[in-house]
Amino acid sequence: AYDATPFLPGRGGLEAYARAAGGCEGCPLFREASGTVFGRGDPHARMMLVGEQPGDQEDREGVAFVGPAGRLLSRALGEAGIDEDGLYVTNAVKHFKFTRDETRKRRIHKTPTVRETLACRPWLTAELRLVRPELVVVLGATAGRSLLGPSFRVGTDRGVPRPLPDGNGAVRVLATVHPSAVLRARDREEMYAGLVADLRTAADAL
Ligand code: URA
Repeated sequence: AYDATPFLPGRGGLEAYARAAGGCEGCPLFREASGTVFGRGDPHARMMLVGEQPGDQEDREGVAFVGPAGRLLSRALGEAGIDEDGLYVTNAVKHFKFTRDETRKRRIHKTPTVRETLACRPWLTAELRLVRPELVVVLGATAGRSLLGPSFRVGTDRGVPRPLPDGNGAVRVLATVHPSAVLRARDREEMYAGLVADLRTAADAL
């Protein structure tokens, strides 16, 4: 089975984990991606944001949420009154999954499978254990399924803080839409407003 566990360091802090994640071969995604994109931000953040996987730009720069989705997220966080410097941001899957278009010029995002998401989960679990946030904001279905199980649906589960399963009651999760989904949406304004509203709820929940 795909599994990142053998690549996790048995000890150390976030930096040790980030370094080790650079060599992860727990699923096949490492073969095509430029490199691992680990989480970033305040190692003692009270709020952790979890996206799906790095995009094209994140893959090239090795930094989470620096592309179009990241810029939209930054704007939404600002409108919700959340200081980005105090956050830890990461992804459910740490390698970019993509296909190439016919010309092989563009790399097109592909949604990671459940197997790949589960394989990568030990890294996310380690980040949760090391950062110890009070609130985890789940961005979209992939992160939702990783942390809340296969029955997670953004449509029904968003906007309300709830206890994180296995979080000993101390950690809460609030789900919302993924910023990339906002960028693709036909009703972009409305979906963006929903993202900002959920982020406000998250800020109030702290
Ligand atoms: N989308 C994500 O889910 N994560 C990123 O880092 C960038 C885009």
